[in-house]
Amino acid sequence: MQGIKILGTGGYLPKKKITNEDFAKIVDTSDEWIRTRTGMVERYVSDGEPTWYMGLMAAREAVKAAGISVEDIGVIIDTSVSPDYYTPSMSCVIQGKLGAVNAMTIDVNCACAGCVYAIDMAKRYLQTDENIKYALVIANENLTKITDYSDRSTCVLFGDGAAAMVIERSESMYSSFLGADGTGAKYLFARSIPPANAFMSGEGKVDDEFPESNQHYLYQDGREVYKFATKALPNALTKAAEKIDFDLNELDVIIPHQANVRIIETAAKNLGVSMDKFVINLDKHANTSSASIPIALDEAVRSGRIKKGDKVGFVGFGAGLTFGAIIFEY
Ligand code: UT7
Repeated sequence: MQGIKILGTGGYLPKKKITNEDFAKIVDTSDEWIRTRTGMVERYVSDGEPTWYMGLMAAREAVKAAGISVEDIGVIIDTSVSPDYYTPSMSCVIQGKLGAVNAMTIDVNCACAGCVYAIDMAKRYLQTDENIKYALVIANENLTKITDYSDRSTCVLFGDGAAAMVIERSESMYSSFLGADGTGAKYLFARSIPPANAFMSGEGKVDDEFPESNQHYLYQDGREVYKFATKALPNALTKAAEKIDFDLNELDVIIPHQANVRIIETAAKNLGVSMDKFVINLDKHANTSSASIPIALDEAVRSGRIKKGDKVGFVGFGAGLTFGAIIFEY
C-alpha cells in the first residue's frame, strides 16, 4: 500500500500564556465553567508574533528533526484560518524565509480539519509525482486576532501556535476519509472585510443568510457545532478504517482535534475505543484550529508516546463544516 512516513516534527508556541482566571477578569465566566464544559485550563496567545513566523519556527524545527536539506522539499502545504495576508500565501512567505527554493507552495483553508486535508494532499503529491521527495506540512494559527474578547462563549476557547512535519512516501498502510457539509457554514465563521469599492452603490448586495456577527471575529453556534462534532469524529475514523478493513482498536494512538474533551469522550464511547488511546492536550493549549493535531503530534513524538511503527489515527472537524480522518503507520 502507498502510505506516508513522517520523518520529523516541530512546533512553536508563543511565550505568553493565558489562564481561565485571566478570562474571569474580562468576561462573565469562571475557571469552573471553562474546565467542566471544555476541559481547557490555559492557552498560549500571540504577543505580536505573526502567523507566518510561528509556522516558520515550527518548520525549521521539523526540517532539523527530519535531518533533510530544505532544497529537497518539493511541496509546502500550509493550513490556516488566520493568515497574515489575503495574498501572498503563508506557504509562499515561509518558503522564502526557509530557503526551500525547489518547493511549490499551497495554502489550504479547511479550518480544524486543515492538517488532515493537508497531509492527505501531500500523500497524493508524493504518490503521483516522483520528482517530489519530501512534503512539508505546516499548520499555523493566530486565532486570537479573530477572537472577540467581549464574547464569553467563544473567547475562552481559542489559542495560538504552530506545528509542522516533513513527510515522505512509504510502502505502509494508509487510509483517509475526508468530507464537508457546506450547509453548516453559518454555524462557525469569521467574516473578511466587506466590499467597499469606490464605485459601489450597494445594489449588488446579497444576504449570505449567516447570523449577525461582530466585525471579522469568530462566530460559533456552539451547540450546533457540538452536535456535528460528536458525529463527525467517530464517523470519519470509522469510514477511513472501513476502506482498508481495519479494526480501530488496533490503533496505538488517536490524535483528535482539540475542541472539547467532552466531544472526545463521547466519540470514544461511541467508537468503543479506550480513552487511553486519545492524545489530549487541550488543557494546555485550548483550541488552535488546524494546528491542534500537529501540536499534539509534536508533543507526543518528543515525549516518546508515539514511536516508529505505531498505528496512528488523526481526526479533525470544524468550520465549513469540514471533517477528515487518516490512519497510517508512524
Ligand atoms: O474547533 C471547531 C469545532 N468546535 C467545536 O467542536 C466546539 C463545539 N461546541 C462546544 O464545545 C460547546 O458547545 C461549547 C464549549 C462551545 C459550549 O458548551 P455548551 O455546553 O454547549 O454550552 P452552551 O453554549 O449550551 O451554553 C450553556 C450556558 C449558556 O447559558 P444559559 O443560556 O444556559 O443561561 C451560556 O450563555 O453557558 C453559558 N456560557 C458561559 N458561561 C460561563 C457560554 N459561555 C460561557 C462562559 N462562561 N465562557
